[in-house]
Amino acid sequence: MTSSTATSAMTGEEIVALSKKHTIFEWSAQSKVEPIPVARAKGIYFWTPEGKRFIDFNSQLMCVNIGHGDERVVRAIQEQAAVLAYANPFMATEPRARLGAKLAELTPGDIDAFFFTNGGAEANENAIKIARWFTGRQKIVAFYRSYHGGTAGAMALTGDPRRLAAEPGIPGVIHVLNPYHGIQRGWDTTAQALAYLEETIQLEGAATIAGLIMEPVVGTNGILIPPDGYMQGIRALCDKYGILLIADEVMAGFGRTGKWFSIDHWNVVPDIITMAKGLTSAYVQLGAVGMRRKIADHFRDNVFFGGLTYNSHTLACACALATIAVYEEDGLIERAQQMGAVMKSLLADLQHKHPSVGAVRSIGLFGVVELVRDRKTMEPMAPFNGTSPEMQTLGRYFREEGLYTFVRWNTFFTNPPLCITEEQLREAFAIIDRGLNDVDRMLDA
Ligand SMILES: Cc1ncc(COP(=O)(O)O)c(C=O)c1O
Repeated sequence: MTSSTATSAMTGEEIVALSKKHTIFEWSAQSKVEPIPVARAKGIYFWTPEGKRFIDFNSQLMCVNIGHGDERVVRAIQEQAAVLAYANPFMATEPRARLGAKLAELTPGDIDAFFFTNGGAEANENAIKIARWFTGRQKIVAFYRSYHGGTAGAMALTGDPRRLAAEPGIPGVIHVLNPYHGIQRGWDTTAQALAYLEETIQLEGAATIAGLIMEPVVGTNGILIPPDGYMQGIRALCDKYGILLIADEVMAGFGRTGKWFSIDHWNVVPDIITMAKGLTSAYVQLGAVGMRRKIADHFRDNVFFGGLTYNSHTLACACALATIAVYEEDGLIERAQQMGAVMKSLLADLQHKHPSVGAVRSIGLFGVVELVRDRKTMEPMAPFNGTSPEMQTLGRYFREEGLYTFVRWNTFFTNPPLCITEEQLREAFAIIDRGLNDVDRMLDA
């Protein structure tokens, strides 16, 4: 075996076999995983070593927002690596300085100080520490339909069933219901949802709650777009009770929803914001936690008790700057809005045509389809936290047809890179349409 180059010296089968033997795949029993071997990627596509092409309709893990293999970012990484790949976090570097200043420009309101991490989970770990130090309180409110990361604290914040294997988690986390209750029960009104939240805050003891963490648009747990007034209502409750609002923008940030940050749709300024994924489009790993000036000022005289060897990693900061320049140069935020409108109509077409489509939701290029057995009962196509033969068949069909996306429970996602063209969107939806024909037929049988 020769050393690796841009193309693989190993076959796809060899890569999978050796990876399965010596590496651990996440969230899975190892005997069950069937990874796709990936050799290269460009734009919205990636290829196996044997040259099978996939449309990346999930931007890998909802992170390669600018698309694969952008030469401007590759060049910036190469140039930075040649000059200074790393300086320790007690040093100050130009990429670090410039990135902090740039994010202060892009993030809402007076958020203007950032602590850099390796990814989203660590950003959330630091967010809850910051909320606790700043308020002197302990508890954190989080939502059941949420994912905040795989480390101990972030796992405890997470509401979805991935949390269960990590319990008991860190103390002090209170989970609350989202305004969405699944395809059969549907949505609360804004007033109902806010009244429930306020009652919970009162019953828990408002003065014990440091922060409320939320994905303004919930990602993996179903692209849940809050009803009108909900975000503003949460902001008002946090203000009323002195609770810090923490917006987890790890998945929904950086143009995914057609704004820089999803919370911008409601003109709400959180006290703390966390990000990763689209920040570098995953070319190099980087996360960040940003805070409003009043919180940053707290650390003028109080020690910031947090650290990471790779905090403010020079190469990663340079990569983020180059990535942000691509969003700006190519107008990708606006493009996500425009292509998002096209995707919304393609999703509506699916719902119109296929009896198995129970609901579609999207905002920008962040979309989901919920499948049901029956439009009248709205029985989901797979149970909560489970799968079914129909969902498995659909997943296999997508894979055979070269469409990569997440199929989870009774849902699948439509989250392409923001550089996607209308023609490419239509190509992907044509595959989805054919796959759903098969599902409809399975229901008829
Ligand atoms: C909303 C949200 N927060 C946090 C995370 C965790 O980020 P990471 O995997 O980079 O630690 C994710 C990852 O999917 C996420 O979707």
